[in-house]
Amino acid sequence: MSTVAVLQGGRSLERQVSLKSGARVEDALQRLGHRAVAIDIGSDLVARLTELAPDAAFVALHGRDGEDGTIQELLEVLGIPYTGSGVAACIRCWDKVLTKHLLRDAGIPTPDFHAFSETAFRELGAAQALPAIEQQLAFPLVVKPAAQGSALGIKFARGAGDVPAAIVSAFSYDRKVLLERYVPGRDLAVSIVEQDGEPLALPVVEALPEGRDFYDFEARYEIGRTRFVCPAELPEEAAARIQELAVAAYRALGCAGFARVDLMLRDDGEPFVLEANSVPGLTETSLLPQAADAVGIDFDELVERILSIALARATA
Ligand SMILES: Nc1ncnc2c1ncn2[C@@H]1O[C@H](COP(=O)(O)OP(=O)(O)OP(=O)(O)O)[C@@H](O)[C@H]1O
Ligand SMILES: [Mg+2]
Repeated sequence: MSTVAVLQGGRSLERQVSLKSGARVEDALQRLGHRAVAIDIGSDLVARLTELAPDAAFVALHGRDGEDGTIQELLEVLGIPYTGSGVAACIRCWDKVLTKHLLRDAGIPTPDFHAFSETAFRELGAAQALPAIEQQLAFPLVVKPAAQGSALGIKFARGAGDVPAAIVSAFSYDRKVLLERYVPGRDLAVSIVEQDGEPLALPVVEALPEGRDFYDFEARYEIGRTRFVCPAELPEEAAARIQELAVAAYRALGCAGFARVDLMLRDDGEPFVLEANSVPGLTETSLLPQAADAVGIDFDELVERILSIALARATA
């Protein structure tokens, strides 16, 4: 039996999802015979962890702090083993621009892009380079904040007139904005869990827009308007190739334990990696638990696996 601090909540935009993930992890840990102690992270975090001195921390935090490497850094300092990716991998996944550079360097396809900071616009006239960017990336183009967390900051610009507002909106989430080539196609995700020290790709999940015109971009991502299909309807070879790409991305980013890689499958059959999530959702409706279930890994087993990797690292 291990004492496990289940870190959840916090102040990120994904607080509510994290509380759900955390509660579900706690239940699973208890069923597995561990002592689970919930910690809603805040200013007393270090004090509480020091007092509890858990055998491990289960990071059930999504978004800022939990996925950007901050919590992992604190846990390193405190010498507490924790689940999932380390500090560096979290930093790489959190910053979509950094992610895309690493993917490109590793020869993993990712949509063409350019990225600029707010100061480049304010002090260097980057706005004057927009026509060149628009020409290179073509319309529609995707504008998103570099830091992930909320699909809310993502806008699809249909023409030059949409771009400035989309950039301003992205800057309300992060100081860096990413302009990316739009990939027409299917929205896929591959979750990965390690098995015997090797990343195992779970079945591909497809997000399908519900009862809406495909070109109504914004509506595609509204909560409740998406249906998930697992495994996605794909020829075996295509699914295998997409899973391989996801594993390659996982390795290129240096992820550990588990993660979820989001991709687009272009209409002509070419896949592109969009991003990786270092702490994917673990709620009833989240993609990773569903994909694990599809290959006979139930939630308790999933939690036990993720925890045992953290504990094994502690004794290594
Ligand atoms: N270049 C693109 N071409 C087409 N669709 C895109 C592109 N980039 C993003 N999208 C759509 O927007 C969705 C969210 O994009 P992305 O995964 O990059 O952002 P996110 O905010 O991290 O999302 P989440 O955290 O919900 O996964 C994608 O799943 C995809 O449907
Ligand atoms: Mg995504």
